[in-house]
Amino acid sequence: MPRYTLNVNGQPRSVDVAADTPLLWVLRDNLELVGTKYGCGIGQCGACTVHLNGVPTRSCQLPVASVASMRIMTIEGLDPAGAHPLQKAWIDHDVPQCGYCQAGQIMTAAAFLQSAPHPSDEEIDGAMAGNLCRCGTYLRIRAAIKDAAQVMAATGGVK
Ligand code: FES
Ligand code: FES
Repeated sequence: MPRYTLNVNGQPRSVDVAADTPLLWVLRDNLELVGTKYGCGIGQCGACTVHLNGVPTRSCQLPVASVASMRIMTIEGLDPAGAHPLQKAWIDHDVPQCGYCQAGQIMTAAAFLQSAPHPSDEEIDGAMAGNLCRCGTYLRIRAAIKDAAQVMAATGGVK
């Protein structure tokens, strides 16, 4: 079994896994970072979204061997205290229903706000279109992203 040393949330983490093991499995089963969720397993729902070198990426079909040299960030690494403006806005707006999709939603939104600090409703909807929510929390997601964008613009708190 090959050994990989991954850069996860700013820390080197070593795992002994087969090269084709999906990153999602490694994060959840080997590193116990269970905030990232398994939804469809076929790259369609976005529940497994993490950042690779800052880019939102689905981890359910991504072989671990392909990410060994990349910076991987999960929901656990977004803010040390869980107090990223998006996370605060999510609470303020009571966004989650069952909650299952929400880590992926927040990770997609966090990367989006890096490139679009003052997004319109249409831009938010376009950026988030690939993250599915079977509970239909889309309107609250949009409102929370708008609030977080305002806070981040006002405080320079873009992460
Ligand atoms: S679990 Fe990866 S996209 Fe659905
Ligand atoms: S909150 Fe239930 S799937 Fe999105």
